[in-house]
Amino acid sequence: MGVGIHSLDHFSLVVPDLEEAAAFYDRFGLQVRSAGDELTLHTAASAHRWGRFRSGAAKALDYLSFGAFAEDVPTFHERLRARRVATLPAPAHAVDDSGIWFRDDDGTLIEIRVAEKVSPDTKSSVSNSTAPPGVAAMPLRVDAPAVQPRRLSHVLIFTNDVARAIDFYGAILGLGLSDAAGDAVAFMHGVHGSDHHLVAFGKSDAPGFHHCSWDVESVNDVGLGAMNMADAGHTRGWGLGRHVLGSNFFHYVRDPWGSYSEYSHDIDFIPSNGGWQPHHVSPDNGFYLWGPLPPPDFVFNYESASAELVRDTVASERA
Ligand SMILES: [Fe+2]
Repeated sequence: MGVGIHSLDHFSLVVPDLEEAAAFYDRFGLQVRSAGDELTLHTAASAHRWGRFRSGAAKALDYLSFGAFAEDVPTFHERLRARRVATLPAPAHAVDDSGIWFRDDDGTLIEIRVAEKVSPDTKSSVSNSTAPPGVAAMPLRVDAPAVQPRRLSHVLIFTNDVARAIDFYGAILGLGLSDAAGDAVAFMHGVHGSDHHLVAFGKSDAPGFHHCSWDVESVNDVGLGAMNMADAGHTRGWGLGRHVLGSNFFHYVRDPWGSYSEYSHDIDFIPSNGGWQPHHVSPDNGFYLWGPLPPPDFVFNYESASAELVRDTVASERA
């Protein structure tokens, strides 16, 4: 096994309205904590910080942080030097200054930090319960339990060049290619055992954040979570469906800024001993096995749109 990061430690976004972010993710079933001028996302099952939100003019990906074992740190430094990727000082809002900071080829800010492995070591348990004869399996709607995602599974970010991202994240972070759909999407896993993907890349004309995905223990939780979000007005999204690449049941709930938070169940697991053969499929064949049609703007990069809007505004001001 080559040297590689073991986990997606957390993601960081800026959003225009922290209160709106808190309400959305609280309703989604996460524990939202307020600390100074930021929000952090946690799950009921662990104290780990899976996400950070700070205030900014428009929703934007701030950085991705990956967890690594301490003994592998020198190798990451060597790889960055060999590829002439500059390491950067930790930003002022970094969790601490212990991590290695750099940018990928799209300019997306990345941290590798020594951290506890928070990606699973085995395939996550599945709890699609049934009832014996003579017993009703489901509660009344009023008694429906709250959905509590177990952990962050992955994020999907936009890149200008999916093949270049596969090369970069493979060569520097040691991620393995899980599967790819043409030059449109690719999925990468950690080599110490992880979900089918810790990070996925979607082709766009600019970097950006498409979705975060949260593991739940049953298909029922995917549906209940989506219904609960719809009851609070978050009716836009995509699901219920089942992916081909990764195999997970999904329901994506559109957040207030045009990106998504996904309920995911029963995603494929890639063990640390490898044995996984990447599939290269056409986008049509690999996107989803079944489900409703995705919304027309499902893969639209709203960060690119806002970047253009800002550029246009600046251009018109200068004209
Ligand atoms: Fe996903």
